[in-house]
Amino acid sequence: MTFDLFDNLDDPDHAGRRAEPLADGAVVLRAQARDAAPRLLEAVHAILASAPWRNMITPGGLRMSVAMTNCGGAGWVSDANGYRYDSLDPLSGRPWPAMPEIFLELATQAAALAGFPDFMPDACLINRYVPGTRLSLHQDRDERDLRAPIVSVSLGLPAVFLFGGQRRADRPARVRLVHGDVVVWGGPARLTFHGVAPLADGDHPLLGRERINLTFRKAL
Ligand code: SIN
Ligand code: FE2
Repeated sequence: MTFDLFDNLDDPDHAGRRAEPLADGAVVLRAQARDAAPRLLEAVHAILASAPWRNMITPGGLRMSVAMTNCGGAGWVSDANGYRYDSLDPLSGRPWPAMPEIFLELATQAAALAGFPDFMPDACLINRYVPGTRLSLHQDRDERDLRAPIVSVSLGLPAVFLFGGQRRADRPARVRLVHGDVVVWGGPARLTFHGVAPLADGDHPLLGRERINLTFRKAL
């Protein structure tokens, strides 16, 4: 089932934006970030200048294939001591770069469209995938307040997003996400197991052989 968010909004030029419900509390907002994408990517590059990509180590000692960085008041980190949010980038010892205005604007707007009008993220995890990179099924549960949703923005190469259930063993739906798509999950869907299938090769006009994903969270 799909419905058109802009049917009633006198917006003839809605450029492919539409909402596809995934589950109770979860929705794909197609093309929601497409117009903002070049500005989002400019902001990502500015962030990388002070907080470069790094492959974090899991508590079990494995190097993650997804390269990551963060911006905002807190950043998600993993090392031998576990997963957590830290206000400092462990690579530099300095605070993470501030959350760009354009990030906040997009994230709060998408959350509101999905039924979470009070969302105010304080953390954005930025993930980088290249062909072959995958992210295994997990829950986002390191945030203090699970009433706030997760807002996830896809840029660059398409990916197959795995969206499962409340138990790891639940068979996930496979949802193709392309440049500009935004997924929001919260409420009854907040702890849904999710992941990303191995990225297929391709050539994206803005990002070449990369996919960048922004996930906005209220961490603190
Ligand atoms: C994540 O679960 O943190 C990222 C999901 C994605 O890359 O689409
Ligand atoms: Fe996640």
